[in-house]
Amino acid sequence: MMWTEKYRPRKEEEVIGQERQKEVIKRAIEGWNQNSKPLLLHGPPGVGKTSYIHALAKQNQYEILEVNASDTRSKENLHRIIGQALAQRSLFGGKKLILIDEVDGIGGSKERGGMEELIKLLENPSTPVVLTANDIEDEKMEKLRTKIREVPFERLETAKIAALLWKIVKKENIKADEKSVKKIARQSRGDVRGAITDLQTSKNEVGEIEALDEETTRRQKEEIKQAVKVVLKTKKATIARQATENIDQDIIDLSRKVIGPVIFGNDDAYGYWIEENIPKEYDKGDIEKAFEVLSRADVFRGRIMRRQYYGYLTTIQMMLTAGVAISKSERSEAQVRYSKTERSPKQNKKLWWLVTKKREAIVGKIAHSVHSSKRKVKEEFGMYKQIIKEDPLIAEKVRLSEDEVNYLRK
Ligand SMILES: Nc1ncnc2c1ncn2[C@@H]1O[C@H](COP(=O)(O)OP(=O)(O)O)[C@@H](O)[C@H]1O
Ligand SMILES: [Mg+2]
Repeated sequence: MMWTEKYRPRKEEEVIGQERQKEVIKRAIEGWNQNSKPLLLHGPPGVGKTSYIHALAKQNQYEILEVNASDTRSKENLHRIIGQALAQRSLFGGKKLILIDEVDGIGGSKERGGMEELIKLLENPSTPVVLTANDIEDEKMEKLRTKIREVPFERLETAKIAALLWKIVKKENIKADEKSVKKIARQSRGDVRGAITDLQTSKNEVGEIEALDEETTRRQKEEIKQAVKVVLKTKKATIARQATENIDQDIIDLSRKVIGPVIFGNDDAYGYWIEENIPKEYDKGDIEKAFEVLSRADVFRGRIMRRQYYGYLTTIQMMLTAGVAISKSERSEAQVRYSKTERSPKQNKKLWWLVTKKREAIVGKIAHSVHSSKRKVKEEFGMYKQIIKEDPLIAEKVRLSEDEVNYLRK
């Protein structure tokens, strides 16, 4: 039996993630009235659109009338089913809910009219109607979109998927190592169905999830080192940007979550590697600039964690490649052995913060003593740095601490 079926969510809370979406849908259905618009749940496949509606219906005693719109046979039934559902409402007291699954499957030139027909049926439905679709950008969806309320579903965080996979591993009573489970979760890119399928298919005859072999681990490490090298050596944004395109690793760690006794995190994320190796290649001023880029990227990481808006991944990737690459003034010729940080993400942030903070403090003091704006001093920072380095008396006048002077001397 397919595990995706076996472990299909039966209760609303078993649908992981999509918290706001679930709330919106539940409220809309419970408060359905003549002015309600049909809901259109859309998003990538395998993220819980269909499952959530089924779980909601089951738990709240709605009878579901379902049509899969991409199925040709049911296209003819579309009209009948919806008509029936609307008519039956007054006959039986039970609550009903119409689910028109995969509406983006309707249409194509042959079936012109299919969509028109559907749109007509959707005028002020007295019974709650929920539609689902993967792709709403398609031209044929345009008109439909004016008639419905959109509920975007999102890809799931690696940590959430990993936790779900782990539960399945426990229930199936199979052996799996944490790294392999994490890898399956990560590679699914937010697709829960895909992750569960991969978990099932990577199970070998003895009921174990095969551990990552050393060769794979070694290859991944080499790929990352290569990407780090390109980014730290090049000054060209485009070259840097392409460096991480083919690595089999997360760009940034989006999975650090403590779930039960297991911590799901991706310590091998490219972000940790680049951060660790910047100081080995860049000089002081460049390190600051690069660290500023890292902290900005981390702001976006936080937004993804909070709002699960994975669109920011592109921004982050850009920052951690092109952004870091162009932070340098000079390419270092040094032969560097790249390694990965052992610090915790918390310590990393503190480090970036300290570096940028120190510079801020110095800028403030200089601005104060030369009666200039901070912005101006920042622009001319190199010059002030030079002056202070050469003349200890000036440092004293500006009231820099020993620590700050040392910082400038480096
Ligand atoms: N958010 C989720 N929580 C738990 N399981 C999920 C979730 N999304 C998908 N699944 C798993 O994947 C299968 C397919 O999900 P489904 O709801 O049909 O995806 P969609 O309709 O978004 O393409 C489910 O049976 C379930 O095993
Ligand atoms: Mg579906």
